[in-house]
Amino acid sequence: MFRRGLAAAVLVFAGAVVASLPSAEAHDDKGPIVIGHRGASAYRPEHTLASYELAARMGADFVEPDLVSTKDGQLVARHENEIGGTTDVSTRTQFSDRQKTKVIDGTPVTGWFTEDFTLAELKTLRAKERIPAIRPRNTLYDGRFEVPTFQEVVDLTKRLSRELHREIGIYPETKHPTYFQSIGLALEPKLVDALNRNGLNHRGAKVYVQSFEVANLKQLNRSLRVPIVQLINASGAPYDFVAGGDKRTYSDMVTPAGLKEIATYADGIGATKDRIIPRDAAGFLQQPTTLVQDAHKARLIVHAWTFRNENSFLPADFRSSTDPAAYGRAFEEYDLFFKQGIDGLFADNPDTAVEAKIKR
Ligand code: G3P
Ligand code: CA
Repeated sequence: MFRRGLAAAVLVFAGAVVASLPSAEAHDDKGPIVIGHRGASAYRPEHTLASYELAARMGADFVEPDLVSTKDGQLVARHENEIGGTTDVSTRTQFSDRQKTKVIDGTPVTGWFTEDFTLAELKTLRAKERIPAIRPRNTLYDGRFEVPTFQEVVDLTKRLSRELHREIGIYPETKHPTYFQSIGLALEPKLVDALNRNGLNHRGAKVYVQSFEVANLKQLNRSLRVPIVQLINASGAPYDFVAGGDKRTYSDMVTPAGLKEIATYADGIGATKDRIIPRDAAGFLQQPTTLVQDAHKARLIVHAWTFRNENSFLPADFRSSTDPAAYGRAFEEYDLFFKQGIDGLFADNPDTAVEAKIKR
């Protein structure tokens, strides 16, 4: 594990000075990092090279590919291994017999799964907008972009780093690691190989590796020299805990004792915003928790997710109307979370996040 702690966090981001958009020109490498969540997924179908490229051009410090496996063991970027909602696979009659119902992390899921497609087959599909009701403009781009491999995402960040004269980081997440291990398509060795092959497994590489599970992060920590981030959900428990009969939950993991344990294998936590400032049943913000301070005491950085401009996702306090797709007062939400002392954030609208950071 790269045990850098809070003070040295600045070193990881050294070099990020210049970007191409007006707001990003003023974006220095101090303060919370901006992670383009699934790219700039408010503006392009998520997890496409177009989405990642736009995020970088908007000033994001990092782009975030969620990783799953193909049948032939290639890492590709999708939020889920089920791809019916984010590709046009349901319209491809040659793949109609691939539709299946599987149990993923204890939940039955019906659809088409990356692990049933070779990379060559997956490459014939095209991405589409996941939430067209909220982001109808993004449907303009449906059918234009492929499902990218992790290598293609790495190649893109290297090209954009040269072009933008600042290093674009990469923040991969292993999706459903226990499940992929159970079907003989473990994600971890492939991720380690890819980072090694690309010269990205060393102290100071602009890379974080994240997971909702624990055992695979502990395993990755033995092979990686880049920071490890333990994701913390609003409820429930890491699926490897569930599968192994371990009764601990995410709530247990954010106690001071739980954070101390995380700090034995990770450098930070990636927490849902609700763990930092909870909402009531009506969606209004409540008093902040002590999570950020507690994590810092345990020498863990804190990255919060997910910041989005639409009313549908904002706390009720900052909604502009009852229209779920309209933008609300997103800057007020950013300001609140910056005051909590977060070290970074995942944003679907990286341009808004950069603007909020500059004026914080
Ligand atoms: O990885 C941080 C955040 O992206 C976790 O949620 O479901 O969007 O991958 P998800
Ligand atoms: Ca993610």
